[in-house]
Amino acid sequence: MNAATKPRDDFAPRWREGLDEEYAALSATLERLVPCLEVPLHLPWIDAIRRLKRERGAVLMAHSYQSPEIFHGVADVTGDSLALAQAAATCDAEVVVLCGVHFMAETAKILAPRVKVLIPDARAGCSLADAITAADVRALRARHPGAPVVSYVNTTAEVKAESDACCTSANAVQVVEAMGADKVIFLPDRYLGAHVASRTDVQLVLWDGRCEVHETFTAAQARRARERYDARLVAHPECPPEVLAEADFVGSTTAMGAWLEREQPERVALITECSLADNLRLQFPATEFIKPCNLCPHMKRITLQNIHACLRDLSGEVIVPGDVAARARRALERMLAVGRRDAA
Ligand code: 13P
Ligand code: SF4
Repeated sequence: MNAATKPRDDFAPRWREGLDEEYAALSATLERLVPCLEVPLHLPWIDAIRRLKRERGAVLMAHSYQSPEIFHGVADVTGDSLALAQAAATCDAEVVVLCGVHFMAETAKILAPRVKVLIPDARAGCSLADAITAADVRALRARHPGAPVVSYVNTTAEVKAESDACCTSANAVQVVEAMGADKVIFLPDRYLGAHVASRTDVQLVLWDGRCEVHETFTAAQARRARERYDARLVAHPECPPEVLAEADFVGSTTAMGAWLEREQPERVALITECSLADNLRLQFPATEFIKPCNLCPHMKRITLQNIHACLRDLSGEVIVPGDVAARARRALERMLAVGRRDAA
């Protein structure tokens, strides 16, 4: 265990004095995950958000790439994009605040049309969702008549509406095979698509979208983490193939957690967005996390301050036009029917 992850039972900073038990415990947790001096700055915002959530009857859903003060401090539901979609599909809250990127908030709105879905910063986008338009999908269909379209949830509602089914990295192979076709158009992530193609006999037509965060990892970086720190390597399938080839395990955000549970490695490098390691560290105190550290600039647009403003003003409402939502919902429901497959 490295110094940063050691519980600091011997050390109770001044700001914990006067806090009730719940907040003293939260402070102790956050002191292990974020720079210690930030904690007293976060606590008043966390308290104000918790109060507003109760007043508004709101549920706060946070993706695993959100910063620890959001993930541990204010979220009611946490998880990968599939878990958030599944939670939205059964949600009967008045308001959902989606702490993640815009396609996740759109997905929640499509699956929970009666819920007011808010996103704290509507500019929180995704390079994959920006990589393809609905017109591109129609052109692909014209070039490959009869081939069904499976789109990654990292797409706009308009692209989902042109698709036969959606998938996440947790069920991509199973969704592709559920199409019952010899050839499937898979979009927009070329690297996830190549990974899926290596695990199925279905022929995939790929698109050239990439995640701007995962595409920057290199095989040399992965090898260095293994050689220098004697770390096991776990990679998200949005990484380039030469990075995946170095990994001990390739899987979705949730599957990485399940792998850690099974393997209990002494040292691990998660080759993915940085905050995932922060958020998993508490669950695995005996594992040392080597952080290659690529932050998603879109995920990091969400802050305690803009969550507070969005709850206070009920601002940032996500609207999806009815006809688009109805067609996109069909594609999302086919994904939900397949469920989670790679983390069992
Ligand atoms: P997950 O589907 O694993 O949550 O990944 C979403 C994402 O944006 C990865 O970069
Ligand atoms: Fe999109 Fe990549 Fe950020 Fe995920 S990490 S939201 S795929 S840009």
